[in-house]
Amino acid sequence: MSKALEGVKILDMTHVQSGPTCTQLLAWFGADVIKVERPGVGDATRGQLRDIPDVDSLYFTMLNHNKRSVTLNPKTDSGAKIFTKLIEECDVLVENFAPGAIDRMGFPWGKIQEINPRMIYASVKGFGPGPYEDCKVYENVAQCTGGAASTTGFLDGPPLVTGAQIGDSGTGLHLAFGIVTALYHREQSGKGQRVECAMQDGVLNLSRVKLRDQQRLAHGPLKEYSQFGQGIEFGDATPRAGNDSGGGQPGWILKCKGWETDPNAYVYFITQAAVWGNICDLIGKPEWKEDPGYAKPADRLDKIKPIFDAIEEWTMTMDKFEVMNLCNPLNIPCGPILSMKELAEEPSLRETGTIVEVDHPERGKYLTVGNPVKLSDSPSDVKRSPLLGEHTDEILKTVLGLNDEEIAAAREEGAI
Ligand code: COA
Repeated sequence: MSKALEGVKILDMTHVQSGPTCTQLLAWFGADVIKVERPGVGDATRGQLRDIPDVDSLYFTMLNHNKRSVTLNPKTDSGAKIFTKLIEECDVLVENFAPGAIDRMGFPWGKIQEINPRMIYASVKGFGPGPYEDCKVYENVAQCTGGAASTTGFLDGPPLVTGAQIGDSGTGLHLAFGIVTALYHREQSGKGQRVECAMQDGVLNLSRVKLRDQQRLAHGPLKEYSQFGQGIEFGDATPRAGNDSGGGQPGWILKCKGWETDPNAYVYFITQAAVWGNICDLIGKPEWKEDPGYAKPADRLDKIKPIFDAIEEWTMTMDKFEVMNLCNPLNIPCGPILSMKELAEEPSLRETGTIVEVDHPERGKYLTVGNPVKLSDSPSDVKRSPLLGEHTDEILKTVLGLNDEEIAAAREEGAI
């Protein structure tokens, strides 16, 4: 079976997390991703958060599977020539350096287009055009400036960032989508184009239901937020909603047996209107089915907290998996809070390739998250990340056609 993106060559100038998540996705789908790294230095994450001395960190290995690594300094004479050849040969250039870094290397968009009019040039930046366009940005800055932090956390606490890397990996996903769209468009137009994703925009896109709520506030309190039932007034901006569900079906995180000692003995429980009767029977409150204060969803909006208190009395009598096993047959949506340890050990995720064990020549075996997108005719296999410059000679010879003398001269100059 062929891979969906086989034949597509990616000139990968990405580093840290946002850009590498994008090119890793493209590599999983079969694109030939040539990761360009500074000679002797490489992507800074190779050395960050190391768990084993002198070995590429898990931060790096888990974001750079299925790629080839070439060391190259485009700021040197022969480096610039090699970089020009790479632009000629590749379909997509992806980068997430600070604003202007590729221009400062001597390769502004106009020049890239001249070298290869079919080239798609894709970038992640912290912000789009405007007052902050020149700023450097990391994950949590994007979460804070994109609306996620102001709406995450509890009402009586400070804004919170989330563990899901919506700024970096989220924007990488958006960028990959933009690249594939531009490749599709190139089929008809014959021309490449710029693809730009700002991390602030990506986070705001993922927080869109909170902008929905901002506008609903003008027409009255947000009745599905539990603060409504608690009589707490709304301010002029979408509030932090604790564990309230983001949609029209109230939900909350509830304690299960063992919560006193196990930080993850909890379950997310949704009181979906369609199965309200099942919930009442299950938790021993059959009278709520007919009670005019509880029977209809609108009747319950001012009682979200006491309802979940009652459900919690029931969930605390069993463990989170027992809750799920009892709810599932009754179509009651709920989810146990799974720790990273539990996910790493979950057999069904190993079977689908969502959790994969990879062998690395220097670190040995480690776990990673495989491709979460499954294509029926183009399965992804996860190959270990490359060592720094592991494929430099191979790429210069086979992709660019350089001979041994040219490679030696470039090395002499410090270009590779
Ligand atoms: N050869 C020679 N120089 C290279 C090189 C190579 N192969 N690869 C990178 N460099 C240079 C660049 O030219 C640049 O130099 P310059 O500033 O003199 O022009 C420098 O290395 C990299 O700069 P920068 O991107 O500023 O790195 P940083 O570590 O200071 O900042 C970020 C990191 C992530 C804050 C910044 O890159 C950024 O804001 N990126 C956009 C947003 C983003 O993706 N953030 C999330 C990251 S997960």
